[in-house]
Amino acid sequence: MAKEQEHVDEKTFTLTNDQTGESVRLPVKDGTCGPSVIDIRSLYAQTGHFTFDPSFTATGSCKSRLTYIDGEEGLLMHRGYTIEELTEQSSFLEVAYLLLYGDLPSESDFKAFERNITYHTMVHEQINYFYRGFRRDAHPMAVMCGIVGALSAFYHDSLDIWDPQQREVSAHRLIAKIPTLAAMTYKYTMGQPFMYPRNDLSFSENFLYMCFALPPEPYKVNPVLANAMDKIFILHADHEQNASTSTVRLAGSSQANPFACIASGIASLWGPSHGGANQAVLEMLSEIGTKDRIPEFIARAKDKDDPFRLMGFGHRVYKNRDPRAEVLKSSAHEVLADLGVNDPMLEMAMELEKIALEDEYFIERKLFPNVDFYSGIILRAMGFPTSMFTVLFAVARTVGWISQWKEMIEEPALKIGRPRQLYIGPQKRPYIPMKDRK
Ligand code: SDX
Repeated sequence: MAKEQEHVDEKTFTLTNDQTGESVRLPVKDGTCGPSVIDIRSLYAQTGHFTFDPSFTATGSCKSRLTYIDGEEGLLMHRGYTIEELTEQSSFLEVAYLLLYGDLPSESDFKAFERNITYHTMVHEQINYFYRGFRRDAHPMAVMCGIVGALSAFYHDSLDIWDPQQREVSAHRLIAKIPTLAAMTYKYTMGQPFMYPRNDLSFSENFLYMCFALPPEPYKVNPVLANAMDKIFILHADHEQNASTSTVRLAGSSQANPFACIASGIASLWGPSHGGANQAVLEMLSEIGTKDRIPEFIARAKDKDDPFRLMGFGHRVYKNRDPRAEVLKSSAHEVLADLGVNDPMLEMAMELEKIALEDEYFIERKLFPNVDFYSGIILRAMGFPTSMFTVLFAVARTVGWISQWKEMIEEPALKIGRPRQLYIGPQKRPYIPMKDRK
């Protein structure tokens, strides 16, 4: 693979302090594609000022070779391959290999990788007992935060982040075991026995087997569901420096072990502004109930005094289309038709999308359906409860998280992430003993 060159040209920006007339010259770095960056690492030393960008709307946190998004074009590519081609022609495990190692595998390399993952799918038997501490009605994401956080208590032999072999073992363990833990979480909340993984099934077939098989009878995985599951996993695999990936990178910058870092990513993904949106979309569609109530909710979404937002709409980066939403929209039709499911939610979602995209408020703000808008409809048709939707997102995103973590650890001179602030609190003041306070 041609090594992308980081073009360090003599390009610069000059920043001038209008009060003093002093100027500083800041280097510009160009990437392979996308916006160039102004390197501000010397800014504080040269000016005594920090930059201020609380939700990182204009801040690049790292260099990366994994994923590139063009928000205007609606382009998403992993290591240069578009998401459309990958969902059409690849498999989730091959995309995992691509993200981890940088290029599409040869047949023999893929078979070795697939075997490695397959033979890591079982979890330590002691982990079964962790589940018993949770109530059966616990939210599956709460269970996953706890269970994945506990993994580092089991794999002491792969916690040395500076050992490439241990990094690789941890990455394989996480990619292989998170689906098993996710399926166990689902079974636990259903009050059903855990199903052990099967080595004769593909990644997505095995996941569906562990979720839906029951001990008293054989279970045959529906190939339509397995194909849809694999496609959904590919669409959720990685997405540049989103909130949960940035959480994983920041946790990893302290040299925390990869299991703890992935647990932090799961916690961040849970929020309804992020991965929790897929559950929130179905809850919103249920609350709307009938098509005639759509205008009422559109009006609420536009009302600044109403905290209600149209879940599954909008994106920090995509400003014309989320390519993943388009793939999922067509996949929703295919899966529901294949399953003979006539879900009024799909009609409702399409009507909501149509009305919203004709509304000036949404057009002006470039708010379009994102990856979460249609995914829940497919997952519901597949038999998952809404509370499991974000867990499924986490199963897929574990591949992106661990690939981004590995890329960061392999960068020379890892430095801990430590943002600064604009302090607006009280000036220094003396302590007043309780008896003297007014
Ligand atoms: C994911 O980062 C990623 O890549 C995330 C993700 C990934 O793969 O990792 O793509 C996955 O998280 C997808 C997003 C899922 N979240 C939702 O669907 C929740 C609903 N969407 C919003 O909360 C919102 O759109 C965000 C959080 C997704 C993006 O928020 P931004 O970029 O901070 O935008 P903003 O809040 O500044 O909104 C800009 C304007 C505001 O109006 P004004 O103040 O300019 O008048 O658009 C409005 C917002 O009020 N707006 C919405 C809206 N989203 C933004 N108004 C109504 N409904 C919405 N959904």
